[in-house]
Formats: sequence, structure tokens, C-alpha cells
Amino acid sequence: MPRYRALAEAIRLDIAAGQLKEGERLPPQRRLADALGVTIGTVTRGYAEAERSGLVSARVGSGTYINGATRSAHGSFSSFGHALRASKAYGLAPEQEGALPAASGVIDLTMSLPPPHPARQQGMAAALSAISQSPEALLRSVEYQNEFGDGSHRQLLASWMGELGMPVDPEELMLTQGGQNGITLALSALLAPGDAVVTGALTYPGLIVASAERGLKLLRVPLDKDGMDVEALARLCRQQAPRMVYVMAEQNNPGAAQLSHARREALVALARQHDFWILEDGVQYLPDEECGTRLYQMAPERTLYVFSTSKLLAGGLRLGVLRAPVEVLTRIGAVLRSHSWMVAPLLMETVCAWLTSGNATQLVEWQMEEMRARQRLARTLLAEWSPAARPSSFDLWLELPEGQRSQAMVASLAERGVHVTSAEPFCVGNEPPPQAIRLCLSAAESREALTHALEIVREQLQAPPALRPMTL
Ligand SMILES: Cc1ncc(COP(=O)(O)O)c(C=O)c1O
Repeated sequence: MPRYRALAEAIRLDIAAGQLKEGERLPPQRRLADALGVTIGTVTRGYAEAERSGLVSARVGSGTYINGATRSAHGSFSSFGHALRASKAYGLAPEQEGALPAASGVIDLTMSLPPPHPARQQGMAAALSAISQSPEALLRSVEYQNEFGDGSHRQLLASWMGELGMPVDPEELMLTQGGQNGITLALSALLAPGDAVVTGALTYPGLIVASAERGLKLLRVPLDKDGMDVEALARLCRQQAPRMVYVMAEQNNPGAAQLSHARREALVALARQHDFWILEDGVQYLPDEECGTRLYQMAPERTLYVFSTSKLLAGGLRLGVLRAPVEVLTRIGAVLRSHSWMVAPLLMETVCAWLTSGNATQLVEWQMEEMRARQRLARTLLAEWSPAARPSSFDLWLELPEGQRSQAMVASLAERGVHVTSAEPFCVGNEPPPQAIRLCLSAAESREALTHALEIVREQLQAPPALRPMTL
């Protein structure tokens, strides 16, 4: 067996034989590597493998320790037991290599990442193997392509989006280097420096930086539980003549606000009256039953829709799809050409091979079920503070109790190894951010790790950090 596995196995046998006892610290990795005459990478993987099996736990800055019998029996924070059960339910074959836990012991809930599952590596492997066996795919991967993406790829992505509840015409699509690239292309192609873009008071930070870079004037309207306040937008339109409104209709990031149907209708009417573009961001995917009518279906002539595989297949495989009225596609294509000529053909090929030969459908189903379970878990553990989230969303938004400060909460959680985000990076303009934190439940390595993190969050909410010293 590979050396790292042999090392993990040796740890297991030594525990079974009573030679390594609960609480005992394993030797520092460098020392063991030297003693065994192997690379430090082998020892790191071996320890990680042992941790994944629940035999040991890594503690930040302190070392790796032998676990007690119960923790090992339950797999500690390993996602593997759960992944295995879920995989069986969906006919996915897990491969142990996939479920490496964070060796640092830190639970990072700051990034909106798809929940880990070894099926992602399997999907990637299946896709690469399919490409390597297809002379046409290999040829397409090594050739220049046009700026919109290959026609068969656009067709495939259109039908996948249709299955996911987003019917689109392949003629109105272009492939982009991720959802962020879809946003920047839309801004660059349709707006000029100084133009006004409107968004909710808390918005996706990628829009904030992209607008600033292009010299656009980013304006905000208030948000409530029904999404963007369209009446406030109507008032703003009378003074500012925005050229574009950016909206995450199904779930605002951050927070969980979904734009109500009445507001969607009002927004579309306003867009037609004041002649602005709507940039609808659907990257944070939710299943169809949780979604309303998409704005691009209500106002196809003036809505651009941003979608990406980043939250469904894998963050590293960020193939974006930008849906736009055909009249403006050429303009957008010209910008993409000037930035990067085309999306890397191998990326398009890999995603498309995954969609045809891989496990994408089962993976998405598993993921949605997993997120519903994680959201239920969070709602139970944090019930007292009524967190906000959509049933299958990645994130959870927690308004802090009266008197608590988000920066202090973020810092005190980080001290205990749980990383979360305050409202600050999402703020448009210089209104003070609300005292709230965002927790990306999807980013935890497993439900067990998430439970541990949420218990720490609960403890901190119950015993908030001490008040800062007074100042004059
Ligand atoms: C709302 C929203 N839009 C766009 C993106 C960017 O997506 P991608 O990673 O595909 O560029 C993200 C990423 O988190 C997002 O949350």
C-alpha cells in the first residue's frame, strides 16, 4: 500500500495494541519523516489519513493527538461515514482519497463552497478519462475556439440548465470564465465609467469590486425579507437614471431574502419604464421548487442571467454561462475576446464531459439534500437567534442579539478556530454594516465538523465577548 496509508495503518495497529494511548502526542512531522527516511508530505498525508479515520486529531499550533475510543469509533470529524451513507443512497462510489479533513483543526465557514464529497474527484476523473479517449474532445481541447464557446457545449449546458429549472436558448448563451467573469463582462460591455448601477444595500462583494474597477457609481436600495425594496428603487430612478440593476432574486448573498413575485413584476415594469438593464445573478443555485419566476424569463429583452458550475460541480471548475439578449451577445463576446480571447477549452471540455459521462445529477441531488440537512441542524442549534436562510442554501445569516458587535464576534470565534464573515465586505457605500455574521454551512468538511462549529457559535452567542474598554 502507499506509504502514507501504511503510516496510518501503523498508527491504528499501535492504538489497538495499546502502544499509543488516548491524548498522546504523535511526533512532529519533520522528526518522524527524518526518522523513517520518507518525505514530510508522506507523513502529512499519513496523519491526515489517520485523522480522517478518527484515530487522531490535529490541534492548531500544538500537534496531532491520539483520540479516545468513542471519537475514533464515530469517525471524529471525518465526513467519510456520512459521505459513505449518502453516497450509497445516491449510487455514488466514494473513494477514500477524496475526504481529507482540514489538518489544521480550523473550521472555516467564510467561503461559499460546495460541500465536500469524494464524488467530485470521481466526476473529474471520469471527465478526464472520457476526454482522453475521445479524439474529437482532444482536438477541441488543443484548438482555439470562438469567444462564445463551442456550439455543442452551449447546447449541453443549456439542456443541463433546463433540467435544473433554468430553461435557456443555447443561441442566447456564451460561456465565461466563471460567474464573476459573467458579471464583469456584462458591466464592461454595457456600461461606461460614471454610469449608475443599483443593488441591495448588502450585496455580493464581487460586484462591489468590479463596479469600482470600472469607475461605475454603485448605489444601494434597502433590502427586507422580500428582497430589494422596489419602491425605493422607483424613487431612486427619478433622481439617478441607473443603467443597470444587479439582483440575486432567489437569495440575496448575504442573507436569505428572496425577491417576491410582486416585486419582480414591479422591477420589470420599472426597467421598461426607465430603460435599464437587469443583471440577474443565479450563481447561488437553489432547486427549482424554491425559486420564483426568473427575471430573464419575465423580461428577456433586458435581462442578463449569470450562472456558473462553481457551486454545483466544483469551485475549481468555474465554467460560467452568461445568458443575454442575442442583440448584445456580440458586444459581450468582443469584450471577452479582448480580455482573454476565449475560456480555456480544456475547462469547457472537462465540464461538458462531466455532464455527459459523470455523476453531475446525483451529485446535485446529494448536495441539495445535504444542505437541507445542514440548514436544519443550524436552525435547531441556533434556534434562539432565528437565523435566516433558504432551505437548501449554502449560507446562514445571523443577526446578533442587541448589544453584540459582529467584529468582536468574528474575532472571538476565530480564537476558537471557527472562521465566519461579518457584514462589512458586503456593504455598499458607507452606511454602517448591520451587526450580523454570515456562516457558510456548506464549507464545513462534514456535518460533524459543522455541529462542532455551531456549538462554539452558540456558546459565544450565549457568552458574548466582553465589552471593549471605554474611550474618551
Ligand atoms: C452571488 C455570487 N455571484 C457570483 C459568484 C462568482 O462565481 P464564480 O466562482 O463562478 O466566479 C459568487 C461566488 O461565490 C456568488 O456568490
